[in-house]
Amino acid sequence: MAKMQTTDLETDLSLFKYDNLEQLPSEYRELEESERTERIEAALEILGDDVVVLGHNYQRREIVEHADFVGDSYQLSKRAAEADAEYVIFGGVTFMAESADIITDDDQTVILPSMEASCPMAGMAEALQVDSAWAEITAAAPDADIVPITYMNSYADLKAFCASQGGLVCTSSNAHRAFEWGLERGDKVLFLPDKHLGENTAYRLGMEAEIAEWDPWDPEGKDATEVAEKDVILWDGYCQVHERFREDHIEQIREDHPDANVVVHPECRREVVEAADVVGSTATICETVENAERGETWAIGTEIHLTEHLQRWHPEVTVLPLCGDACMDCNAMRQIDPNYLTWVLEELVAGRERNVIEVAPEEKELANVALDRMLEV
Ligand code: 13P
Ligand code: SF4
Repeated sequence: MAKMQTTDLETDLSLFKYDNLEQLPSEYRELEESERTERIEAALEILGDDVVVLGHNYQRREIVEHADFVGDSYQLSKRAAEADAEYVIFGGVTFMAESADIITDDDQTVILPSMEASCPMAGMAEALQVDSAWAEITAAAPDADIVPITYMNSYADLKAFCASQGGLVCTSSNAHRAFEWGLERGDKVLFLPDKHLGENTAYRLGMEAEIAEWDPWDPEGKDATEVAEKDVILWDGYCQVHERFREDHIEQIREDHPDANVVVHPECRREVVEAADVVGSTATICETVENAERGETWAIGTEIHLTEHLQRWHPEVTVLPLCGDACMDCNAMRQIDPNYLTWVLEELVAGRERNVIEVAPEEKELANVALDRMLEV
């Protein structure tokens, strides 16, 4: 079967999911850290219990220092759901703020300080593209039940799509259980958007012979008939920050620091995951270093801000970036500049809401179903 429809689509792979980008007013652009800290603290004091500030583990120091809670994307969603505050200020990226909006009450408002904080991997599976690929793949396997599973790192419309087709959402900590859930209810799973997490999960379940990759950008890639022969179909998305780590970085670390242990995020390539001592979400990475004995050495294979936080938070442990200076920060996470945080907080004090993330009601309802199913697994 010719693989035409998906690759011909004009998708909007723009970096920004939301088009209501508000520019930071010029008076906020050059604030000194001491003045900014004072102003953030003053605004938070006035706003009191009306706001809760959540910070992902990859946020800059100047953001996590002001956060009421710092954690991985799953923990932050749970914190958002538990929050009583009228405003949830989300230090993270768009898909995380969307998830917070999906699970908070209708009278709560989620604010993402900068709308430019869009995860490129989430943008690699556009709903239009997925719809088209789904039509092709399901037509190629008319007798098979395919269950779509999307990683938390995806937009609300994809979460809603998965729910509408009997699928669910998962995080890096429960992807294996989501696969099992899908394979109990169907014959095959389509996993989006992160092929590395998908591949790592299939290996964990002993299903490595059942993997097929669907590359929506490559007309010469496997077509629908070929991928439909397998039980684990992986969308060809990836995170640039985590793809950077290679097996030889681990070999080098072990050569330079023979006592070093290695912990990596499951968005890393399979060879890296296999060569590491511990693999897990950013929360698992934090716990691993927290639970390390004094004097232990841990090399960290994830976004560089988290490695730097761990160095600061645990001076009793030697914390090293797995690939030294080549370790990257996440450009999307970096967009949450503390000047933006100052601005959105001071605007709230003045009674104005800026950069509100609001998922459309029909998407919200369905995406909630996909998130609820995740809680079942
Ligand atoms: P966690 O869910 O582990 O926090 O990871 C989110 C993320 O964006 C990893 O790149
Ligand atoms: Fe997205 Fe990668 Fe940044 Fe995580 S680290 S938010 S997956 S680009």
